[in-house]
Amino acid sequence: MLHVELHRRDLRRTRADLVVFGLFKTAKWPAELKHLDKSLDGLLSRRAKAEGFEAEAGSSVNLASPVASGPARVLLLGLGEEKKAERDGLKVFAGAAVSRARDLKAASLILVPPAIKDGCSAGALYSLACGAGLGDYRFDKYLSKKKRHKELTVGLHWPEQPAMPAGASAALERARRVAEAVSHARDLVNEPANVLTPETLARHARDIARRHRLAVSVFDARRIAREGMLLYLAVGQGSTRNPPRFIHLTYKPKGRRKPGPETRRVFLIGKGMTFDSGGLSIKTADGMMDMKIDMSGAAAVLSAMEVIAALKPRFEVHAVVAAAENMPDGHAYRPGDIFRSKSGKTVEVLNTDAEGRLTLADAITWSRAHKATEIVELSTLTGACMVALGLHTAGLFSADDKLAENLAAAARAEGEDLWRLPLTSLLRKQIKSDFADLKNIGNRYGGAITAALFLQEFAEGIPYAHLDIAGPATSDEDRGHIKKGGRGFGVATLVSYLCPLG
Ligand code: BES
Ligand code: MN
Ligand code: ZN
Repeated sequence: MLHVELHRRDLRRTRADLVVFGLFKTAKWPAELKHLDKSLDGLLSRRAKAEGFEAEAGSSVNLASPVASGPARVLLLGLGEEKKAERDGLKVFAGAAVSRARDLKAASLILVPPAIKDGCSAGALYSLACGAGLGDYRFDKYLSKKKRHKELTVGLHWPEQPAMPAGASAALERARRVAEAVSHARDLVNEPANVLTPETLARHARDIARRHRLAVSVFDARRIAREGMLLYLAVGQGSTRNPPRFIHLTYKPKGRRKPGPETRRVFLIGKGMTFDSGGLSIKTADGMMDMKIDMSGAAAVLSAMEVIAALKPRFEVHAVVAAAENMPDGHAYRPGDIFRSKSGKTVEVLNTDAEGRLTLADAITWSRAHKATEIVELSTLTGACMVALGLHTAGLFSADDKLAENLAAAARAEGEDLWRLPLTSLLRKQIKSDFADLKNIGNRYGGAITAALFLQEFAEGIPYAHLDIAGPATSDEDRGHIKKGGRGFGVATLVSYLCPLG
């Protein structure tokens, strides 16, 4: 992980390889930039003018300094219209600056963030440091020729006035932990399905438990059957090579942090299909190409536990993953099969590609049986949600307004895009079956909603939120702190929801 520290010295006298200023379109140049420009004989402003630099998003001015005393290079990064700056603006800026520093082979970087409202808060510091850490993420373990990376030190420039906010060092520490956990989640998502199987995912969870002193248990297929999770078992039965593993991590507050009488037990459930071929209702070649990412929800909840264990909330937090591989095989479950869920409800499987909701239904019931007081579940559940909201936004479903609002607020603070969608009860008849209590698909319309309604049947009245992250689980391009591939979406939101920053 990158080392990020605060920088409070005069920018004209730094020896850094690179200083990056973030600038909004209409904003005046900050005093520090004017001073630096002056010390460079106005080279920066002349270059900016000559290149027609107007701080459009994505534009930049890059100047190698001819002066021996100051920074070796100065980069002005355009951030576009301030009003239009998205909530994740600071993370995008810091991530982009680190990427440019890497491209320019710098060993030391100083970031000068744009002046924004609340820009001098601990929260802003956190976002910048988090974005910087993630901007350095790469998944290159399978490249024979790696781009050699030296150490990069990052200084966050903080003006003389105002004074440092309270909790500045805690914010930096937290940013380092979150960026690290998000990177781990990205690694899990990017890992191919021949390497990341239910068993290796369970091994990873055991590793987290050992490093962070969490309790862990892993069930094999026989134990899953004994627990009555027959829907989940059915999904996994088509993979003879990679049988299912049910994973449970527990954080419990200790000592003085003993929970109060109104004990809160939060269960985080993540969809953990290490590969989704569709099963016998097999996907097309194009549809299957990315399906190693179908465990992004699991990656998020397991990685979030790393930070939870460090931040030590005063209530219990559990992570539950019903990991499996959805494959076609002589042993695979068939369209038309009927299974009894752990809850007792029977389900007719009409499409073996609607497998996520089957594994999650039993994981929800299992969590309820283990005294969950609230459940937050993340899953790459439906293509329909991607059609509805696009690739950057997750769908949020909850019958509990307070839970939904708190999750949405946490996501806003982290710049992760969530949009609440309705649990339209008129659509419930779509998942009624003629031969069982429920069926696992609806018709063509409202596919993200009918999936959510199916899951809601198993939550039975306890506060429950479902996040359909099929869109934002991955990115198809580099964008600041976001890199092509797994995004680690949800980790930051979960941490922020459970342990709000100051
Ligand atoms: N894992 C997929 C959903 C998905 C699609 C995630 C694309 C990420 C990218 C899920 O298991 C699935 O196959 N859903 C089906 C449901 C349908 C059969 C009712 C879908 O969305 O097509
Ligand atoms: Mn599927
Ligand atoms: Zn799936």
